[in-house]
Amino acid sequence: ASETEEKDLVIIGGGVAGYVAAIKAGQSGLKVACIEKRGALGGTCLNVGCIPSKSLLNNSHLYHQILHDTKNRGIEVGEVKLNLAAMMKAKETSVSGLTKGIEFLFKKNNVEYIKGAGAFKDEHTVAVNLAEGGGETTVRGKNILIATGSEATPFPGLTIDEKKVITSTGAIALQEVPKKMTVIGGGIIGLEMASVWSRLGSEVTVVEYLGQIGGPGMDKDVAKQAQKLLQKQGLKFKLNTKVVSGDADGEGVKVTVEAAKGGKEETLDADVCLVAIGRRPYTNGLGLENIGLEVDERGRLIIDQEYRTKIPHIRAIGDVTFGPMLAHKAEEESVAVVEYITKGYGHVNYGAIPSVMYTHPEVAWVGQNEQELTAANVKYNVGQFPFSANSRAKTNLDTEGFVKMISDVETDRILGIHIIGPNAGEMIAEGVLALEYGASSEDVARTSHAHPTLSEAFKEAAMATSSSQVFEF
Ligand code: FAD
Ligand code: NAI
Repeated sequence: ASETEEKDLVIIGGGVAGYVAAIKAGQSGLKVACIEKRGALGGTCLNVGCIPSKSLLNNSHLYHQILHDTKNRGIEVGEVKLNLAAMMKAKETSVSGLTKGIEFLFKKNNVEYIKGAGAFKDEHTVAVNLAEGGGETTVRGKNILIATGSEATPFPGLTIDEKKVITSTGAIALQEVPKKMTVIGGGIIGLEMASVWSRLGSEVTVVEYLGQIGGPGMDKDVAKQAQKLLQKQGLKFKLNTKVVSGDADGEGVKVTVEAAKGGKEETLDADVCLVAIGRRPYTNGLGLENIGLEVDERGRLIIDQEYRTKIPHIRAIGDVTFGPMLAHKAEEESVAVVEYITKGYGHVNYGAIPSVMYTHPEVAWVGQNEQELTAANVKYNVGQFPFSANSRAKTNLDTEGFVKMISDVETDRILGIHIIGPNAGEMIAEGVLALEYGASSEDVARTSHAHPTLSEAFKEAAMATSSSQVFEF
């Protein structure tokens, strides 16, 4: 086995957490290596997550809109046909362009890219089983960063084959539109993928254990509205429902469900079943046992505020440890962790990490929701403004949804912003900035917003929230 020179930083995992840290470390003058076993950089997000799913969401939305929403706009189209293979090709073009871009950035910033699977040999040495039968090498690091990400949580009794019983990875690569699809889990993955396939013609039923869709974090009013609008688009929901068993042996997939509290069983037949009940940290084959590192009951690597494991020069960030499993959260942590290594301090504001669900309309939020504030006994004001009263939404004939702002009743400081509506995912950036700067709703209400834009709904919601009477001149 060969050995590479000792590095200042060895990173295991080339996903968002790993590759951003690698580039930042290279720019900071560290000698750095990044080990990735997938055969491409970019991790889950670029290869099988954020990017391919958004490509399909965008193009399936266009297809659906052309089918159902052109006449009233004065556009008459002829026969509209789906070419799924070409839609998948467009997705692959977006993905490959971006992964190659990271390889270029590695070269530019002197990051050594080691293709293979890394496993701890000892506290400073990682053995790499090189890809494509390249044998084994070892690499030593003064610092080591674990950024090995997450994987889909399986559903007991349903074996994933990525054809009939699929995770999101199968759901972004189906070769034909299933006639019927059952989705287990009405969280973000479930709803985004259900939207794609329903728009392309599939009959989709979403089974959710809880009484609301959207997963943890989504405001209850927004979740209710999202459900209503998705139902209008054709999605079927079974809330407060648990999956009892699944059977994929015969033709298609049978999923037996019953009310969460117990009750009569019902069997859902489908061609394809998507399992989307959450993701779990991934540390398989990493050799944690060789260095005595342990994970918590949910599989997360235990770290302190400086991202250190109990072995101080070994750190962990991204999906493999605490916090929301989001690409931009991983990205913030990668910058902070390199700053900790090079300067001794770093910073991530976990109270201002936005969440976006890229359905149509989009759902986006930052900060706390009403349920959380009520549970914490916080007194708050709520202001809401509907897109149906926004001039730009009206001109776009895209008026569903609202902006909801929550602020502290005493200080008017903004505590949470929850949007369902067109371009919510872009608009939330303003909310994140407001939260980051500790803005009051009055601050936003007194800020000029261009007319006619959707963002005026944001200002209007702030005006409705503001306890001061901004219009009494
Ligand atoms: P990962 O991206 O999982 O990267 C870890 C990498 O480590 C992998 O490439 C893996 O091959 C590699 N690895 C693991 N073990 C080893 C080893 N021993 N040796 C070498 N390499 C190893 N987030 C958003 O913010 N916005 C979105 O729109 C969004 N959409 C998503 C859609 C889907 C369908 C999914 C599944 C996820 C989505 N996410 C989204 C979440 C996002 O993908 C993750 O939060 C993000 O990828 C986490 O980055 P990471 O680097 O921590 O882990
Ligand atoms: P999730 O945690 O968002 O949702 C899972 C849902 O499944 C929850 O609503 C849960 O109540 C439900 N559930 C769990 N067990 C169940 C069961 N046995 N029967 C029925 N329902 C059950 O997880 P999801 O959707 O799998 O996504 C994983 C992660 O990926 C998310 O945490 C998210 O951070 C990330 N992601 C982010 C995206 C984005 O930012 N747009 C897109 C896709 C994924």
